[in-house]
Amino acid sequence: MIQSIQAAAITSCANSFPEEIRPNSYFYEQLGLETNDEWIRSRTGVQERRAVRAEQGETCGTISAEAARRCIELRGIDPEEIDAVILATISGDLGFPATACLVQDIIGAKNAFAFDISGACTGYLYTLATAAAMVECGRFRKVLAIGAEAMSAILDYNERTTSILFGDGAGATLIEAVPDSHPGRILDIQMGTDGSGAKHLYRTGGGSLHLPGADHPDFPKTAKVYQNGRVVYRLAVQRMSQVIEQMLERNRLTLDDIGLIVPHQANIRIIDAVCERLSVSKEKVAIYVDRFANTTAATLPTSMRLAVDEGRVAEGDLVLLATFGAGLTWGAGLLRWAGAPK
Ligand SMILES: CC(C)(COP(=O)(O)OP(=O)(O)OC[C@H]1O[C@@H](n2cnc3c(N)ncnc32)[C@H](O)[C@@H]1OP(=O)(O)O)[C@@H](O)C(=O)NCCC(=O)NCCS
Repeated sequence: MIQSIQAAAITSCANSFPEEIRPNSYFYEQLGLETNDEWIRSRTGVQERRAVRAEQGETCGTISAEAARRCIELRGIDPEEIDAVILATISGDLGFPATACLVQDIIGAKNAFAFDISGACTGYLYTLATAAAMVECGRFRKVLAIGAEAMSAILDYNERTTSILFGDGAGATLIEAVPDSHPGRILDIQMGTDGSGAKHLYRTGGGSLHLPGADHPDFPKTAKVYQNGRVVYRLAVQRMSQVIEQMLERNRLTLDDIGLIVPHQANIRIIDAVCERLSVSKEKVAIYVDRFANTTAATLPTSMRLAVDEGRVAEGDLVLLATFGAGLTWGAGLLRWAGAPK
């Protein structure tokens, strides 16, 4: 654990999920894909996911702003008190500017600067680490760390292997400077990257490598999500298990000390395999992949809020976050839960 000048904690969190629910039947009944409920449930654990209504102006930015607005409101502060808005996403509203800028405007955080972080499924953890460091160095006091995705806007719905996996949603957290007497604390964050694994999970198009209209060897069109599912599955289990063990070891803790584990919600089989490797009971694991699928950067913050709503985490509990995603990226976070307002 690194000693910092100023302690930081998550003092509020809130979610915003689009209202539109897409059950598994959406893919075979409405889109006519060759798939079925049994295949999707047994391979992924997903039963349904949410999707933004683009035609009604719902976007990654609008759901992020709604989550942020609720987060601030729950904490009972003025948006003008916010120093910075950091948004983790790979499905933002525009190529540029950062979607965080749009959020800053919508919520009226006039005194905040804003930027995005592209860390795919690990994006929220990178955002949390950045926000925590900004607060811990003593320069900033209130930073919004958001994870949000409109994955439905970037998926190819002719492609059954990837389209069924993902969902849309936004989770916002407030990272604040807190006094030593405060019950909450961001205790430790560990992150890793192996860029040589970028080839296993990526999106073509939208960047300088694949110009609009240019063909890519793997695909006839640009802008598609590609994934080597088996490799990603194997590495996700390996990296998430390892990083949890490392986090526990370097903080001299065991799993018995942890009140709640919040893993990235990629796939129930990945979560099951990690639990089996670590011999951890699923009772202390937050699992929402059945209702919301993989919301990429949004899974960690939204799962924390859902766990709070279900009374699964109490003030003073140790909460362990663990994630893995494109990059390849992975990481873990250790929090002393401050008891987010309901
Ligand atoms: C994607 C994933 C669910 C696929 O499961 P899998 O058991 O590896 O399945 P495979 O890719 O080997 O495909 C098995 C068969 O099912 C088929 N299939 C793929 N998607 C299907 C679908 N939606 N419905 C029905 N069949 C499908 C494949 O075409 C393949 O058919 P074939 O054997 O005739 O070629 C799995 O690899 C996985 O979970 N990977 C990790 C994904 C993930 O979480 N990524 C995000 C990480 S942050």
